Amino acid sequence: MTSTNSTVAVVGCGYLGAVLSAVLAEQGNQVIGLDVDQAKVSQLNSGIAPFFEPEFQDVLQGALASGKLNFTVDPKEVSAAQIIFICVGTPQQAGNSAADLSQIWSAVDAIAPHLAESAIVVGRSTVPVGTAAKIEQRINQKTGRNYQVAWNPEFLREGLAISDTRCPDRIVIGTTSAEVERELRKLYQPQLDKQIPILIMDVPTAELVKVSANAFLATKISFINAVSEIAELAGADIVALAEAIGLDPRIGNKFLAAGVGFGGGCLPKDIRAFISSGEELGAAESVKFLTEVDQINTRQRTRVVTLAKKLLTDLSGKKVVVLGAAFKPNSDDVRDSPALDVAHSLHLLGAQVFVHDPKAIESARARFPELSYQSDLAAIFQDCDLVLHLTEWSIYRELDPVAIGSIVRNPVLIDGRNVLDFGKWRAAGWQVSGLGKKA
Ligand code: UGA
Repeated sequence: MTSTNSTVAVVGCGYLGAVLSAVLAEQGNQVIGLDVDQAKVSQLNSGIAPFFEPEFQDVLQGALASGKLNFTVDPKEVSAAQIIFICVGTPQQAGNSAADLSQIWSAVDAIAPHLAESAIVVGRSTVPVGTAAKIEQRINQKTGRNYQVAWNPEFLREGLAISDTRCPDRIVIGTTSAEVERELRKLYQPQLDKQIPILIMDVPTAELVKVSANAFLATKISFINAVSEIAELAGADIVALAEAIGLDPRIGNKFLAAGVGFGGGCLPKDIRAFISSGEELGAAESVKFLTEVDQINTRQRTRVVTLAKKLLTDLSGKKVVVLGAAFKPNSDDVRDSPALDVAHSLHLLGAQVFVHDPKAIESARARFPELSYQSDLAAIFQDCDLVLHLTEWSIYRELDPVAIGSIVRNPVLIDGRNVLDFGKWRAAGWQVSGLGKKA
């Protein structure tokens, strides 16, 4: 692997920052990760991943052992860094659809007094367009210097964060400074060696690329989910339909999986922040469609609950098993998880809800302590009245419908992700429903 040997600070060590720190150290750079959370910093320094992400713990341990990686809560330690990445969270504001940038401002205030004069500050968090300019102004006011803040959005997917960081589809850099471009090209040389495209553009465009990409992905999912409603009413099959339209390369077959919809810490809040930022810029009409995208997505969750009510008539006291708690497989992230949202709604309707997840039970329990959790997949189905498959972990595809059918009270299944083998389950005596599938 090419060694790049830059000195890098990564501010904010969540999914994005911790993974970036470990991969940059793996590539030979000297990296310091800064976070305000002492417990997280201690965990990272002892080689323990604070969240489940495939491969991450191994890369973290390798980077720590090489002496190239360290985590700290002390902002003074950024003083040695040539390149400083801002990777803090930008969640949705409480009671508002805009992004909450408070972590950006506290990070900037913490690091500004310690920046080396030649330091390059690079934003990587997902932000409303115009944020880089505000960061630049704030740093320059605080330091009396003339930093030019660059933007380098990330496109990593949870569950694939390591491979997406080592080998992204593209590298986008927003800067007008030749020196910043040179330093970042040097940093990303291992990626450039793999012929990964690098696109240099102005800062506002780079900021907008990220929110536009997420808005497009969300729109694609809500499009197929809207069609799934029509398919269901018309007696058509959304899975066959998606395969057929996806073979047109202009459409593409990715992100066309109809089901309970998108969740997580990115797509839902990013489309809302995009609506808010579009309105602020005076383009409310142009982002209005994203409100519909959001509503279609929420409606999918309601559709599952309505279907459950229809199948069981009265949910009160019924035992319901929910397969999956994370917002997607290969993650323990339960932020805005469609599965947990549905589980919670069924609980409020009086059902006894038992949730299974291979990795996310602890984070789910912290979020919804009122639900019951069961890590034993063999025992969870005993006497159950309804099974909902809501996060498509691969283990659920290997379940034996005959064995499970012999211990449930009522062999009724809703596949909210349309990935189980309906024929196999039906042959084992199950009543199977999906969103956009023939009853
Ligand atoms: C998303 C983007 O895909 C990344 O490119 C981006 O970098 C990241 O947000 C971010 O902004 O940080 P992520 O949130 O990890 O990544 O998850 P996705 O793989 O996009 O899935 C989002 C949700 O959509 C999941 O709940 C998933 O189950 C759902 N989904 C996905 C569908 O319902 N149907 C599909 O066809 C695909």
